[in-house]
Amino acid sequence: MDNTQTTGPVRIGLIVGSTRPGRRGAAVAGWVAEVAARHDAVRAGTAVVEVLDLAEQALPLLDEPVPAMFGDYRNPHTRRWSAAIAACDAFVFVTPEYNHSVPAALKNAVDYLFVEWNGKPAGVLSYGVQGGTRAGEHLRQILAEVRAVVVPAVAALTVFTDFDFSGSDPGDPTAPGRIAPAAGRAADVSAMLTEIVIRAREPRSGDPVAVAGSPERVR
Ligand SMILES: Cc1cc2nc3c(=O)[nH]c(=O)nc-3n(C[C@H](O)[C@H](O)[C@H](O)COP(=O)(O)O)c2cc1C
Repeated sequence: MDNTQTTGPVRIGLIVGSTRPGRRGAAVAGWVAEVAARHDAVRAGTAVVEVLDLAEQALPLLDEPVPAMFGDYRNPHTRRWSAAIAACDAFVFVTPEYNHSVPAALKNAVDYLFVEWNGKPAGVLSYGVQGGTRAGEHLRQILAEVRAVVVPAVAALTVFTDFDFSGSDPGDPTAPGRIAPAAGRAADVSAMLTEIVIRAREPRSGDPVAVAGSPERVR
């Protein structure tokens, strides 16, 4: 697989990490896409953003017989997911916090692939009752293991301060509220995008697995 840097626009995959009915994730990703559309790099055409929604990917729980680092994919859904991620130069992950970590669907989607993530910049936007920061930190560790280059900038939304529940039934646990990020949140996302675009334009170092000779040797 050609994992080298391209000269066209930086293609940023915006990964929607939750899949449940009534999720806030789609609204959060929609807002991130709006912020990105106002970013200088996107306006100048040097970066483009594509939403990759795990609900639409509908990946089953990992069902590949060969670990992803060998790149020997047997299933059409894996090949589709591989092609979608291989086509990206960088990523923004939108993850909620579920029991202090990322949703199973997101961990599963990362586990499916390996070389497709290698060397590519990634930003993490978390959300949850307290900003989802524990999930965000977990995701950074997970992404490091697949050799993504996680940028230092972080962004976090808190359900009770970055969503507007006016008009919702306070007793309804399914009420998603309306996304209404507090001052500074858009700037956080924009700063993350800036870091991602800068990193994506730097030459990518070689595939560490290829350098090591065997995937097992880098464990
Ligand atoms: C299974 C589950 C576990 C959760 N665990 C946490 C948690 O540990 N910490 C937290 O801050 N919020 C937690 N929440 C609240 C979610 O972060 C919040 O509902 C968020 O909107 C979920 O993302 P989604 O709407 O895109 O599914 C949890 C929600 C669910 C559904």
